Amino acid sequence: MKWDDSFAIGIEAIDNQHKKIFEHLLAIESSVAKRDPWHILHFFVTQLAESLKLHLEVEEALLEIVRYPERVEHRESHVRLLQQIDELEDQLRNKASGESLVGFFEIWFVRHVLNGDREYAAYIREKFPALLDRSLAPAGL
Ligand SMILES: [Fe+2]
Ligand SMILES: [Fe+2]
Repeated sequence: MKWDDSFAIGIEAIDNQHKKIFEHLLAIESSVAKRDPWHILHFFVTQLAESLKLHLEVEEALLEIVRYPERVEHRESHVRLLQQIDELEDQLRNKASGESLVGFFEIWFVRHVLNGDREYAAYIREKFPALLDRSLAPAGL
């Protein structure tokens, strides 16, 4: 799967983070395809986990600030995403069918962005349009 601009939710800083996470996923995918040893794969998985954790924290803080009504449910869906990263790491370490697992995580992640994240973006666009012009995180995240 490739990142597609139609996945954008319209909040630039968040979209950049989503894209970055996707790049990490693609790096894992090609590492698995090349049958890289675990220490190399582990490096990519760690990068993915770090940028995902940071992203989810930024998102949760944002939803708190704008008092998004579904913020508790949204946070719960993030917990599931983090659990899946742990599962992915375990299974890659044990050399289970890595390629399909990474693909599965990609689909799950994109689905979260297109459903959950897009819903809060619509809320922010309606209630706090000025926020859409601001950078929410340092560049390069
Ligand atoms: Fe997100
Ligand atoms: Fe989210």
